[in-house]
Amino acid sequence: METSVHRGGIVFQHYCAQCHGVKGDGKGRMARLYDPRPANLMESDKNDDYKQLIIRLGGKAIGRSEFMPPWGAELTDEQTADVVAYLRSIHVDAHSAQ
Ligand code: HEC
Repeated sequence: METSVHRGGIVFQHYCAQCHGVKGDGKGRMARLYDPRPANLMESDKNDDYKQLIIRLGGKAIGRSEFMPPWGAELTDEQTADVVAYLRSIHVDAHSAQ
């Protein structure tokens, strides 16, 4: 489990951080180029299944922005599961954070 989070973090920094930010807060260095902005993944209200889906298929295929690219051809199933585990580890509950 922890290994999965660790591996997922490496995948995230490599493929996702430029848009979603090194912390996953949606403030990546390329974020301002996109409208809608890349999601703040620390405060996402989506479940793991949904995240898995949008990561594999990309935003456009599920009615979201095409600026969220599809990663199905890039990442193995294991890497996708790892990155979802990583996202779970950085997630802060917006309600309990107050
Ligand atoms: C080119 C910029 C870009 C890259 C790179 C990118 N994303 Fe995204 N992502 C977006 C944008 C823009 C959205 C918001 C789409 C919308 O609001 O319709 C998004 C949305 C998402 C969401 C939905 C979150 C929510 O709460 O609805 C997830 C999960 C996600 N991205 C994960 C990832 C992961 C994991 C990676 C790396 C494998 C990644 N993204 C790489 C731009 C990007």
